[in-house]
Amino acid sequence: MKIAAVILAAGQGTRMRSNLPKVLHPLAGKPIIHYSIETIRSVTGQSPVVVIGHGADKVEKAIGGMAHCVVQQPQLGTAHAVQVAVPLLKGNCDLLLVTAADMPLISLQTYQHLIETQESNTGPVTMLSVELADPHGFGRVVRKADDTVGYIVEEAQATPEQLAIRELNTAIYCFDAEWLWSALPKIKVSPKGEYYLTDAIGIATADGLTVQAIRLKDPEEAIGINTRVHLAEAEAVLRRRINTRWMLEGVTIVDPATTYIEADVQIGQDTIIWPNTHLRGKTVIGQNCVVGPNTIIEDCQIGNDCTILAAVLEQAVVENHVEIGPYGHLRKGAHLAEGVHMGNFGEVKNSYLGPGVKMGHFSYIGDATIGKDVNIGAGTITCNFDGVRKHKTVIGENTFIGSDTMLVAPLNIGANAKTGAGAVVTHDVPDNTVVVGVPARPLKKVTEEKDLPQDGKQ
Ligand code: UD1
Ligand code: CA
Repeated sequence: MKIAAVILAAGQGTRMRSNLPKVLHPLAGKPIIHYSIETIRSVTGQSPVVVIGHGADKVEKAIGGMAHCVVQQPQLGTAHAVQVAVPLLKGNCDLLLVTAADMPLISLQTYQHLIETQESNTGPVTMLSVELADPHGFGRVVRKADDTVGYIVEEAQATPEQLAIRELNTAIYCFDAEWLWSALPKIKVSPKGEYYLTDAIGIATADGLTVQAIRLKDPEEAIGINTRVHLAEAEAVLRRRINTRWMLEGVTIVDPATTYIEADVQIGQDTIIWPNTHLRGKTVIGQNCVVGPNTIIEDCQIGNDCTILAAVLEQAVVENHVEIGPYGHLRKGAHLAEGVHMGNFGEVKNSYLGPGVKMGHFSYIGDATIGKDVNIGAGTITCNFDGVRKHKTVIGENTFIGSDTMLVAPLNIGANAKTGAGAVVTHDVPDNTVVVGVPARPLKKVTEEKDLPQDGKQ
């Protein structure tokens, strides 16, 4: 059977009280809408149709190539939303899965179970229901005397007896497509002025057709995001799911309750994550690393056997056997090669530190290329900004930069060179040369005035 899917995402999301469309609020590092799209794509093997409306431009941009978008304007209810998608779907499917973008936690298995149940259903629809202690905000599933599904009543229209029902509508369904096309026009406008997709259930049973309902095994999946309270609940569930997954994959998480790993992060076996660690974006961490406590890593690639303590790393590449921290900061474009040691209070931006570079204490390296085994003394600074432009510093292999050296860029320092403590280096330094002082001059025995270095580049 050909299965298509439609995800409803046009509603305003008033209860979020936000300028940002509801489905774009971040959940474990990704917009809410990405979750349903990704799960549905895995289930059906193809891009779903997403019905957008409120904040359509922004939502469409966030969806990118993940799905086909269709605009519902104005938004006249969930049945109307499906109606708007019909031209894209008609003739392309036997079964239609309908879900809502604000239900990001529904699992692949649940969608599969729904589809399989409908495949063997003689009636036109299978719906997903859930039993919750707090039914607030949900439509109630009203069953007939023989216990089969009768219809769904929205909370606003429910009688006190119906309000007491604990079987709730998740608003996720699998329809026989041809039947749905014929039923949609029969849905009447509600007292609120909307066309409710929920009415399709009553239309089926009124025609004597069977509606199947499967109940969610794990009620957590039913968390729908209508308010920021729900958003935090969903975040907590996802955080637990993600942490559990990594622990089962062989990652030690010392305190899962204070470990925040976003959905797309990858972590190698035998890595240990200490508390208060945030791993974000497309971060990839290798094996046998020790990360945290108190560390934030965003969009970074970290090799194997690294130690990162109380540090902030953004858009950086770190090769194997690197030590950072406590209190290190890697900014965009930092690349630390194998075996780099970066001690406390170091900052590196847009720079390559070659293998074995040591940078123990209080240094800033920006826009620089540093050769193998260079020692960067305490308090070294690349003065890379002249007030208008950024300039580059290049340092050759095995060079020793003395404590408190100011490297005034643009600057080239050769291999096996040395700078004295407190040097302000304003001119290039050749290989094997020692420079000292302010401004720095090559160190040699000065016998006559003419032996002093001339101004200008050497
Ligand atoms: C809906 C169901 C309710 C169910 C609940 C589960 C209806 C009428 N009610 O209520 O039975 O218990 O979900 O969470 O379906 N949308 C559109 N266009 C519209 C209106 C809504 O695309 O014109 C989208 C929304 O963006 C949202 C989804 O449909 O993703 C559900 O709409 P929402 O307003 O959140 O419905 P609920 O009140 O939650
Ligand atoms: Ca909802």
